Amino acid sequence: MKRTKIKDLFAPSLIGSEVSVMGWVRSRRGNKHVQFVALNDGSTIRNIQIVLDMARFTDEQLKPVTTGSSIHVTGKLVESMGKGQTCEIQAETLEVFGTADETFPMQKKGHTLEFLREKAHLRPRTNTFGAILRIRSALAFAIHRFFQEKGFFYLHTPLITASDCEGAGAMFQVTTLPIDNPPRTEDGAVDYSADFFGKPTALTVSGQLEGELGATALGEIYTFGPTFRAENSNTPRHLAEFWMIEPEMAFYDIKDNMDLAEEFVKYCIRYALDHCREDIEFLQQMYDPDLIQLLEGVLASDFVRLSYTEGVKILEESGRKFEFPVYWGADLQSEHERYLVEEHFKRPVILTDYPKEIKAFYMKQNEDGKTVRAMDVLFPKIGEIIGGSEREASYDKLMERITTLGIPMKDMWWYLDTRRFGTVPHSGFGLGFERLVLFVTGMTNIRDVIPFPRTPKNAEF
Ligand code: 4AD
Ligand code: MG
Repeated sequence: MKRTKIKDLFAPSLIGSEVSVMGWVRSRRGNKHVQFVALNDGSTIRNIQIVLDMARFTDEQLKPVTTGSSIHVTGKLVESMGKGQTCEIQAETLEVFGTADETFPMQKKGHTLEFLREKAHLRPRTNTFGAILRIRSALAFAIHRFFQEKGFFYLHTPLITASDCEGAGAMFQVTTLPIDNPPRTEDGAVDYSADFFGKPTALTVSGQLEGELGATALGEIYTFGPTFRAENSNTPRHLAEFWMIEPEMAFYDIKDNMDLAEEFVKYCIRYALDHCREDIEFLQQMYDPDLIQLLEGVLASDFVRLSYTEGVKILEESGRKFEFPVYWGADLQSEHERYLVEEHFKRPVILTDYPKEIKAFYMKQNEDGKTVRAMDVLFPKIGEIIGGSEREASYDKLMERITTLGIPMKDMWWYLDTRRFGTVPHSGFGLGFERLVLFVTGMTNIRDVIPFPRTPKNAEF
């Protein structure tokens, strides 16, 4: 079945030619002489107008052509007289693949985003979700392009793991044991030696630890895959299943790491502006009148680079009453991050050198004995978009941290081997893909930038 995609119809060279299009009807209107169908096939935000001369078609033929129905039309592409469209198709043949009755939930317009979340199986048929999903796809491609052009290798890290990278304990267990009656050892504990992998396993929270194995062999790698967190945080910025991009680079210190992170997010935003202009313009018009200005603003600015200690000082001296108190040692909340970015500096901020107590065990320890070489990239409206660090390259210092934190060594022997055999300074970071899509689309809830969101008490579709 050969068809022209609707996005390709708008090339001036096609005017006057016979075309064949297929798609879903957005609306139909008209009178007994002429009927107009707005058709969309998902290739673009634009609809093509189909003009049906009722001297050629019967009412019976048009009856199943309802909002949501799927059709195939052939005809001549002509310049349009109607305002807001450059061309339209004068239909010669009409075939209906499938009609849709009036219970089709995506009737013309005006649904709330909450309503659409409950209909996530059909929301890709709306303008909003068509635009978001096209932008998401383009950003995924941009990410691969960025790293491939730089000579990074795409490393596939496991999704099932026996180690907890972030040490936050928010993991989804993977088991084939019967949960209502698992085998038990003599002392009554669950006998994991009888489980599928012979030990407790879970879905990964991050591919970083295996990423470090790759970087200390191939030099520069990146991962791009799903990660899972069982934190019970019902916020507009958290998902239980989200996609993360984690570059990891041998011979990079924290400064190199910051340079790469800044170049990388800017590349992605530029790519979306250059390749998804119409979709971004649509979202700007519908949801955020300042969207393009905000994106361009980020591209034009040098990110502020500031230590956690200085950041906390600014927050303490701001005179602002925050919901969560700020003091040296506190984990920053998104209200604090956004104050620094949106009100104080008015551009993205890279905050570094956090207290070691609030960061993961693998980060390089600073001379002061109190802080580690962490870096979080903070964005307007989003807060933390990237988290990363220079890694602790010294075997002894890393071991000391692992011991202090009581991390079971038996899970870590392979990781420690990177520090035993040819250890090198190295760094990396993780970008939350949905947070990037959130920023670029101007949406405000992370559930609206992934096709099928997974959040506490919700795994529908
Ligand atoms: O800061 P995080 O937890 O860092 C890591 O996982 C490191 N292992 C990354 C590395 O250095 N290789 O997560 C990284 C990013 C966050 O900055 C945020 O953008 C995103 O992942 N993220 C989430 N996105 C959506 N839902 C969640 N529950 C998220 N948790 C983290
Ligand atoms: Mg983080």
